[in-house]
Parts: sequence; C-alpha cells; structure tokens
Amino acid sequence: MRTYLVTGGAGFIGSNYIHYMFRKYGDQIRIINVDKLTYAGNLENLKDIEDRDNYTFIRADICDSEAISKIFEENDIERVVHFAAESHVDRSIKNPEVFVKTNVLGTLVMLNAAKAAWELPDGSFKPDHKFLHVSTDEVYGSLEEDGGYFYETTPYAPHSPYSASKASSDMLVKAYMDTYHFPANITNCSNNYGPYQFPEKLIPLIINNALHGKKLPVYGDGKNVRDWLFVEDHCKGIDMVQEKGRLFETYNIGGHNERQNIQIIHIILDTLREMLSDSDPRRALVSDDLITYVEDRKGHDRRYAIAPDKIKAEVGWYPETKFEDGIRKTIAWYFEHEDWMKNVTSGDYQKYYEDMYSGR
Ligand code: NAD
Ligand code: TYD
Repeated sequence: MRTYLVTGGAGFIGSNYIHYMFRKYGDQIRIINVDKLTYAGNLENLKDIEDRDNYTFIRADICDSEAISKIFEENDIERVVHFAAESHVDRSIKNPEVFVKTNVLGTLVMLNAAKAAWELPDGSFKPDHKFLHVSTDEVYGSLEEDGGYFYETTPYAPHSPYSASKASSDMLVKAYMDTYHFPANITNCSNNYGPYQFPEKLIPLIINNALHGKKLPVYGDGKNVRDWLFVEDHCKGIDMVQEKGRLFETYNIGGHNERQNIQIIHIILDTLREMLSDSDPRRALVSDDLITYVEDRKGHDRRYAIAPDKIKAEVGWYPETKFEDGIRKTIAWYFEHEDWMKNVTSGDYQKYYEDMYSGR
C-alpha cells in the first residue's frame, strides 16, 4: 500500500485532494495529513473520512523539522504532496513575515526531511519516491489585458509578498532538483474555486455576503482577470502529474476560463437568484445593489491566464468542469453546508473582516 504525506490537508485544496484520492484509490493508498491548523485549516473538512483505517491526521507545523523528520522516520513515505502554505494575498500585504516562514522555510524543512529519508548512500534516491510541490501561477506576475498566457517558460516576476514567497519556495524545489537530483515536480495552478474554500477568497466571500444582504466589495474597477479552475480538476491534475508527468518538470494547471471579477460577481448573483426559491427569505436579500466598489488592492495584478498546452500534451489533463456547472456545484455545496460557513465566520473572522474592509 503506497503511503502519501499530504501537508495542509485541512485547508481548501488539500481537503478536496484527500477526498479525491480516497474516492479514486479507496483502500489502495494510505494518507498521512500533516497540518498546523491555522485559521485556514479545519478538520470539519475531513469529518467524513477521519475514521478510515488508512488515514492519519498529525497536527504539526511544517517549520518544525523534528516533528516532520519523525514522520519520515516512522513511515515509508513514497509520495509527498505539499500544499501547506499561507495562501491569501491580502493577508500577505498586511503581514508578510508568516508567509516567508511557512512558505519558504517550511518548504525547506519538507525538502530536507524527504531528502534525508529518501537519499541512498551513493547519492541517488529510493526508486519511485516523489515530492510534488503545489504552487501558483501568481509567481509569473501579471499579464496585460489582451496579452498572452503564462507558460512554464515564462520568467518569474512575483509582485505580492504571497507570490514572492511561493516563487522562493519553487526556486528551492528547483535548486534541490538541480543540485541533488531530488525527485520532484512543481505544479503552478490558476485560481481555484469549489467546496471548503475559506470566505476570505473572492468566490465564497461573495456567495456568503450576498446571502446575508451584505455589501459585495469589488477592488478597483473590478476588471482584473483571473483564470478560474474547479478545485476537483486541480486535484486530478496533481495526481496525473505525479503519476504520469516527467520527473523534474514543472506543469501549469488551469485554462481558458478567464473572467473579470465583476463578471464573476454577476454570475454568482444570477445563479443564486436561479437556485433560491421565491419563498426562501434569502432570495430577497440577493441584489445587484450590494455591489460596492472599494479601494484597490495594493500592487493588484491585472490578469492571470494559463494555456495548459504542456500538461495536456504530456499528461493528458485538461480542465473538465465548465464554469457554469462548477459554480452551481459550489453554490449548492454552500447551501448544504450553512453550519460550516457559520462556524468559520464566527469569532476571528469578524475581526479579520473588520480589519480588512472597514478602511476601504
Ligand atoms: P488554504 O489557506 O485553504 O490552506 C492552507 C492549509 O495549510 C491550512 O489547512 C493550514 O492550516 C495549513 N498550514 C498553514 N501553515 C502551516 C504550517 N506552518 N504548517 C502546517 N500546516 C500549515 O490554502 P489553499 O487555497 O488550499 O492552497 C493550498 C496550496 O495551493 C498552497 O500552497 C497555495 O499556494 C496553492 N495554490 C492555491 C490556489 C488557490 O486558488 N487557492 C491556486 C494555486 C495554488
Ligand atoms: P482572491 O480570491 O483573493 O485570489 P487572488 O488574489 O489570489 O487572485 O481574489 C481574486 C480577485 O478578486 C482578485 O483580483 C482580487 C479580487 N477581490 C475583490 O475584488 N474583492 C474581494 O473582497 C476579494 C477577496 C478579492
């Protein structure tokens, strides 16, 4: 039975990935999930799989090299899928330090622990042991409104503290591959949306605010473009890259679903109106009048877009879920998980929201 070490598995993409992997491989794999449980980590996301015999949760900080090394010493980890990170651009603008700690130093700890466990006396590595570093297309910087796509060959030009820290972590993974021939891949993915996403990110924030008749904050002119990918398609891409991709290669994941933020907001409002029955009291709260233009994000990247040519040609992956279907599935999930949303928006979230939006 192959053992996976997943970091950040209690977060948005990590928890979707764990669900995806158990759906796909069932009892053929074992997953150890290591997560510090920051504000973004939530064991509620994994309630339905927590009792499986082939699943283990370990609460640990990826910056804690002793704790991480111990996991490698006690288990024959054959696959690492490294999600754990601070992931929100706005928070990185307010407090960059923790981004460098977790995203850069934490990745270094993960690389060192895997290298120590997998390296053989002759400097080669145990066969079929692999590390996948999950990264973002934001490392490539910003595209012009009408100008081209990000490719794996696009030079790195990060702007935010978040993307700079992810770029640094990518560079460390590349350095380990180049220096030690460390068996790894990097994936750089576009913006994800779907179940379990924390409502600091655009799509769940807009869904939640609209359902409560709260203002929908649009940064700047609302015309910044993101290339949205349904999270399950990303999870599938990660697995396909790790099993079918060429080792040491980078693959961009995303593709051809570019939307302006303001378009996203209108699609969400229209879909909510379609999906809520007339008798549902939330229906009356959903209104275009909630749209509020606010002060722009500092250093706001204008456009991200991926042409997924390499992953399609080499691995056979393509984005399967149409946005209209993905957004309906996402909204349906939030309808069915009102308690989840209530729990994550109580307490600290109120203070976060106040800090982030009251001055705008
Ligand atoms: P998230 O913020 O929802 O989850 C991050 C998880 O990491 C949380 O469970 C958190 O508790 C955990 N974590 C944070 N610091 C930790 C530490 N020091 N030690 C151990 N665990 C820690 O993030 P996400 O949106 O699921 O993103 C996952 C990964 O995918 C990140 O590396 C991110 O850069 C990358 N990514 C995200 C997107 C996106 O649209 N969300 C797109 C491309 C790439
Ligand atoms: P976000 O979900 O934070 O992802 P990222 O910054 O990593 O792309 O933001 C997506 C886009 O939505 C980005 O252009 C910023 C914008 N945005 C708003 O206009 N209002 C908001 O309240 C948030 C959170 C984001």
